[in-house]
Amino acid sequence: MQTVLVTGGAGFIGSHTCKALAAAGLKPVAFDNLSTGHADLARFGPLVEGDILDGPAVDAAFAQHRPDAVIHFAALAYVGASMREPLAYYRVNVAGLVNVVEAMLRHGVPSIVFSSSCATYGIPERIPIVESAPQRPISPYGRSKLAGEQILADAGAAEGFKVAMLRYFNAAGADPAGELSERHDPETHLIPLAIDAAIGLGPPLQIFGTDYPTADGTCERDFIHVSDLAAAHVAALRHLDEGAAAALTLNLGAGKAASVRSVVAAVERVTGAVVPLAHAGRRSGDPPVLVADASLARATIGFAPRFSDLDTIVATAWKARRQDARR
Ligand code: UFG
Repeated sequence: MQTVLVTGGAGFIGSHTCKALAAAGLKPVAFDNLSTGHADLARFGPLVEGDILDGPAVDAAFAQHRPDAVIHFAALAYVGASMREPLAYYRVNVAGLVNVVEAMLRHGVPSIVFSSSCATYGIPERIPIVESAPQRPISPYGRSKLAGEQILADAGAAEGFKVAMLRYFNAAGADPAGELSERHDPETHLIPLAIDAAIGLGPPLQIFGTDYPTADGTCERDFIHVSDLAAAHVAALRHLDEGAAAALTLNLGAGKAASVRSVVAAVERVTGAVVPLAHAGRRSGDPPVLVADASLARATIGFAPRFSDLDTIVATAWKARRQDARR
């Protein structure tokens, strides 16, 4: 395995994964339409500007770069937006995936790693969540990711390619070396919004709901550092490449619950600034608690998060935010 086609390689998790692939001696080729990605983040190999909905463009990228494997990140990924424009989510996340898989088959690529999400579980019955838990997504985004898993399972079994489906919990933080950052527009994620509020670059942070059945009344999430996620993609590819499994489904989380209020406290600790707060009601589509049982990932691909304690996540995100603000 030498060349890996990374759809969405100019995005947040995609760019960090390209860096990890290059560090592991592989050649990442980023394929990205730059709708939410940034060309300057795709600096660890060639960038092909193209859209996964454009079948001939996808095919041309496979023909030109002859990848040995694919990592598929390109997707729409906002839970809230998916409620308002579900068809866009199904078009990109389902039809776009089908284009990528058809190109893989035409070019004889034997394996794919797919970005799935804890959003496929919906409101879990048990915490921590194991991979065999029921998948009952409560948003079009979650349903589009579940459809992606099912398409890959069916096509992989019928066509004989290998698949790893990685269900991320809350990806956060930024490259500890300061080379990459999280740049969403609009930004909707808790940690960057809390940092911006603390350093005066954004409005007060709205806390979406203080009446959840949790210890402090706010939602609890399992934050996983983006560089730990990136390393897991390289490990999953190697696992497939070694022929260890034909299909793999893994939760990727740190296995620790952090409430919205505890994230605010971490941002205040790390930045030394107060996070101004504004009260707000619950945001629709938010499950109260999402925490991973990641023991299967530990056992199969040696997943061992290095940067995923909350203060390291916040410190790396803060460092990246300050660098971006100076640009
Ligand atoms: N939150 C706030 N205020 C904000 C932003 C977020 O209180 O301004 C809260 C949310 O209500 C939630 C928590 O902070 O309880 C985390 O919210 P994020 O928007 O940062 O992350 P999500 O948990 O909604 O979303 C992430 C990924 C999705 C994935 C989802 C699974 O971005 O792709 O986890 O739940 F699908």
